[in-house]
Amino acid sequence: MSRKLFIAGNWKMNHTNAVAKEVLADLKAQVAGVTTVDIAICPTFTTLPTALEVLEGSNIAVGAQNVHFAANGAYTGEISAEMLNELNVPFVIIGHSERRQYFAETDETVNQRTKAALAAGIKPIVCVGETLEERQAGDTIKVVETQIKGAFEGISEAELANITIAYEPVWAIGTGETATPQQAQDVHAEIRKLVAALYTQAAADAIIIQYGGSVKPGNVVELMGQEDIDGALVGGASLKADDFAALVNNVA
Ligand code: 13P
Repeated sequence: MSRKLFIAGNWKMNHTNAVAKEVLADLKAQVAGVTTVDIAICPTFTTLPTALEVLEGSNIAVGAQNVHFAANGAYTGEISAEMLNELNVPFVIIGHSERRQYFAETDETVNQRTKAALAAGIKPIVCVGETLEERQAGDTIKVVETQIKGAFEGISEAELANITIAYEPVWAIGTGETATPQQAQDVHAEIRKLVAALYTQAAADAIIIQYGGSVKPGNVVELMGQEDIDGALVGGASLKADDFAALVNNVA
C-alpha cells in the first residue's frame, strides 16, 4: 500500500505577517518542483490571509492550528470553523499536545473540534502522543489508543478519509530528542492496527499517520523510510525556508 507523504509545518506562535511573507515566498520557490510530497504550512491565525495569498496556486497548502467546536458565541480568543471556511483554509491541527497541556484540551474537546472541522469541510490533523512519564511507565500504546478512541468517537469511516493523524511523543517536541525511527514505527503500526479494529483494514491502509517531534533535514529520510510513517508534522525546522525546503526536498 503506497501512501503519499504529507509534510506539514506547524509554526506555533511564531512569525509576524512581514516575516511570514518573506519565508513563504522563499519556501514556495525552493519546493516548486515537488510533486511526490503533499506540503502544508500552519501559521498563526493572524498570518493566515498572508499565507493564503502568497501560496495561492502553489503546491503548499495552508492550515490553521486550532478550531473551536461551537458555531459562534462567548468563547473569548477562539476561532470557529465558519471563520476558517470564510478564508478557504483547507486544513486544521487539532489537539496538539501544547493545546492539551496549556489550554486544557481533552479527548472530548478534541473530538468536538474534529467534528466541527469535518462538518465545515476542513481536514483535521489530529495529534496524539504520550508524555515521558507515560512512556517510562510502559503506557505509550494505552495512552495513544485512548486519545484516538476519544478523538474519533462518532466519526464515520467516510469522514475518517479526511483525517490525518499526527503521532507526536511529547518528550520529543522541541527538545532535540527524536524518537528513533523504530520507536516511532512501533507506535505508528499500533495506531494503524487500532484504526483497522475501529473501522476497516482499507481505512487503516489509507490513513496518513505523520510523525512529529524534532524532525530535521538530517533525520527525515530515515524516519520517512519506515513502513507506517507517512509524513511529518514539523515545528522548529519549519520556521526557516531553507530548513523546511531541505527537509521536504530530502524525501521528495
Ligand atoms: P518540533 O519539530 O519543534 O519538535 O515540534 C514538533 C511539533 O510539535 C509539531 O507540531
